Amino acid sequence: MNITLNVWRQPGPKAPGKMVAYELMGVEDHMSFLEMLDVLNEELFARGEEPVAFDSDCREGICGMCGLVINGIAHGPEVTTTCQLHMRSFKDGDTITIEPWRSTAFPIIKDLVVDRRALDRIIQAGGYISVNTGAAPDAHAVPVPKPDADRAFEAAACIGCGACVAACPNASAMLFTAAKITHLGMLPQGQPERLGRVVDMLNQHDAEGFGGCQNIGECAAVCPKEIPLDVISQLNADLSRSWRRGH
Ligand code: SF4
Ligand code: FES
Repeated sequence: MNITLNVWRQPGPKAPGKMVAYELMGVEDHMSFLEMLDVLNEELFARGEEPVAFDSDCREGICGMCGLVINGIAHGPEVTTTCQLHMRSFKDGDTITIEPWRSTAFPIIKDLVVDRRALDRIIQAGGYISVNTGAAPDAHAVPVPKPDADRAFEAAACIGCGACVAACPNASAMLFTAAKITHLGMLPQGQPERLGRVVDMLNQHDAEGFGGCQNIGECAAVCPKEIPLDVISQLNADLSRSWRRGH
């Protein structure tokens, strides 16, 4: 198929950016979206033009590195990661608009690449547990009820891609933060720091410039790991308890 790409080009963090149109011929249905961009870059390179900068690593939907706003939707028209989106989701003659995640907390580095280290700093603020060193405990020494283990596992599926931020009108990272708080808060190992964790992570969330949550739900609608919106309820419940306990 033949397509037109409108791509955000920005040479550096402070430089002005603009949309640039490229015609691309012979795109195959089975190509992933990133493979299609690889083909564009080969053509640009052959013409002596600057290739389009974009992030990727595993290209298997695991690492969370890839993230593009495609036709106005974080990760594009399928609920999956950009690397797992395939060109069969588009048709011959389509015009596809490609932009970076847009958020104050995710400054643009170049073209489609943004700095997502704000999410790492939220994790550093409280996304950890204290453990005793020494021999590994017996597998059954710390029983975890099956529903709690399932809930923790569901939340732990978050890959930190930042699509929730890109989709939110407030650029809030609440779904991400709540996923981490739920993941650790459901397990016995996560209890010692539980009430301090929620305060520390939320303070860092706000300090990074992410917006507040208004329960709009765009985050959960685009999340490639289908993190449910109700993890935010769990975060709010932990926050209320922490306030009552004077954290
Ligand atoms: S909650 Fe979903 S959309 Fe947000 S960072 Fe995690 S995996 Fe990505
Ligand atoms: S490149 Fe790893 S999730 Fe897309």
